[in-house]
Amino acid sequence: MQSTRNKLIDILSNNSDTYISGQAISEQLQISRSAIWKHMKELEKDGYVIEGKSKRGYRILEYPNKLSGNTIKWGLETEWLGKEIIYKDTLKSTQILAHELAQGHAQHGTVVVAGEQTQGRGRMDHTWESSKEKGIWMSFILRPEIAPNQAPQLTLLAATVLAEVLRRDVGVVPMIKWPNDLLINRKKCAGILTEMQAEQDQIWYVVLGMGINVNHTLDDFPKDLHSRATSLKLETDKTWEIRDLIQKILVTFERTYNTYLDNGFSVIKERWEKDGFRIGEQIKIKTLRDKWEAPFLGIAEDGALQTKTPNGEETKLYSAEIDWFS
Ligand code: BTN
Repeated sequence: MQSTRNKLIDILSNNSDTYISGQAISEQLQISRSAIWKHMKELEKDGYVIEGKSKRGYRILEYPNKLSGNTIKWGLETEWLGKEIIYKDTLKSTQILAHELAQGHAQHGTVVVAGEQTQGRGRMDHTWESSKEKGIWMSFILRPEIAPNQAPQLTLLAATVLAEVLRRDVGVVPMIKWPNDLLINRKKCAGILTEMQAEQDQIWYVVLGMGINVNHTLDDFPKDLHSRATSLKLETDKTWEIRDLIQKILVTFERTYNTYLDNGFSVIKERWEKDGFRIGEQIKIKTLRDKWEAPFLGIAEDGALQTKTPNGEETKLYSAEIDWFS
């Protein structure tokens, strides 16, 4: 249940370019005009700047800098992604909370964001370093009407979204390392983790997690990651506004996801291959059972890595780690 305070912020946010009268708010929230006034004063204490004009009503002029569900939603131009945003200062993992919410029927497009994660997780059981307010740690709950074997396409789709935002809004040259790593200057700055609950031919839900290193300095990374990890700040010498980047990612993700549902995976595959790292080159491949070297031929329609077996036969891999020769 949303609190009265959050409902009030929602009403003001939805009317950000006009005034909304005390009478109208009182009718929508079923509370008295003096109760509204008290809530407004509380919001002002928390950093909201609210203009109140007699005969016209109220409107929000400024949101506090602090990250919260409401501040992320403020000015967010999406139709369905992030209509519900749950923000927590600290979580074990946004994936864990998103799974719990999805099992409790959270709606398609719900977004979970954390200031820090104490047990952030990556692919292949790796841990994911998620220090406080340095990066974007978020998970989307999606309920796509696609077959379970198409779900890996969503990971690749998300990678193209991050590549687009990094190129357009951050001004760096991103590369995507199969399937889900975003590299800048060959160092990893973001990763994507897609998990789902499904039956044989039906997806119940997908939890798509993104981790992006934004304002880390080198000291914020453990020593063993110094040669392999980077952040937007390290690459651009600039501190980035997390809230603004989250909004850009949500808008770009929603647009790309809609395109994917309307036109299929081929557009996404094309975009992915344009930014794909080391396509056409010899790479090192490691699966649970084997390690070998083979050419990276591209990605298949189902998102798999197209390569060759140690015997030289063409094959598709769904789960593997790849590395390259410098
Ligand atoms: C990887 O590169 O291995 C994937 C990393 C995914 C990290 C994100 S951070 C938000 C979400 N919550 C997690 O615990 N993991 C994902």
